[in-house]
Amino acid sequence: MEHIISPSILGADFANLGNEIEMINSSVAQWIHLDIMDGVFVPNISFGFSVIKYIKKHAKKILDAHLMIVNPDKYIEKFHEAGVEYLTVHYETCTHLHRTLQKIRSLGMKAGVAINPHTPVNLLSEVVSELDLLLIMSVNPGFSGQEFIPNSYNKVAQAKELLLQKNSNAIIEVDGGINLTNAPKLYEFGADALVASNAIFMANNPIDTIYKLKNL
Ligand code: DX5
Ligand code: ZN
Repeated sequence: MEHIISPSILGADFANLGNEIEMINSSVAQWIHLDIMDGVFVPNISFGFSVIKYIKKHAKKILDAHLMIVNPDKYIEKFHEAGVEYLTVHYETCTHLHRTLQKIRSLGMKAGVAINPHTPVNLLSEVVSELDLLLIMSVNPGFSGQEFIPNSYNKVAQAKELLLQKNSNAIIEVDGGINLTNAPKLYEFGADALVASNAIFMANNPIDTIYKLKNL
């Protein structure tokens, strides 16, 4: 499978968002990662539908939304209306995860589950058949620019094994502290999609960095 790169706009210049989206449009990234934070599940607040609406208008890439919010069920329809294609909820926020995933899929979106660094991969074993994407957090969610947690390599390997066992084609995505140094090893362990913010938006040449991250 071709590696997928999903630049997270969390680290972009929001006063210059049009140009940042254009940069991603002209890169080889296939997705745009939207980090939605509510200040409750994570200690940070990011952006909401009024911003997503304009991103959708300009973006030529698939929108990959990562919900770091309590009670995500409340907003599933709104994300669908906003044009999100991959909708990922956190395992830690969903009491009825199976129902949540079914609801996402019933609207025609791809369903993803993210797990925090402390959450074991095997807790997802009974919902694999409802999954299009498994997101391994390689930092504690909330901020861009944090350091990659090395145990994430093991979790990617465990995710790969679980999906193989269950005969699933779900995409393994990794998010947090990704850079040109750890990306090759993540691919080796089984990652399909990498999210990156700092490594891209702080680079001298973001388009080239996206190209390198994808083609390592
Ligand atoms: C963290 C977010 C990430 C973040 C990644 O809570 O989920 O998507 O933007 O940023 P970097 O690549 O800078 O760690
Ligand atoms: Zn994210």
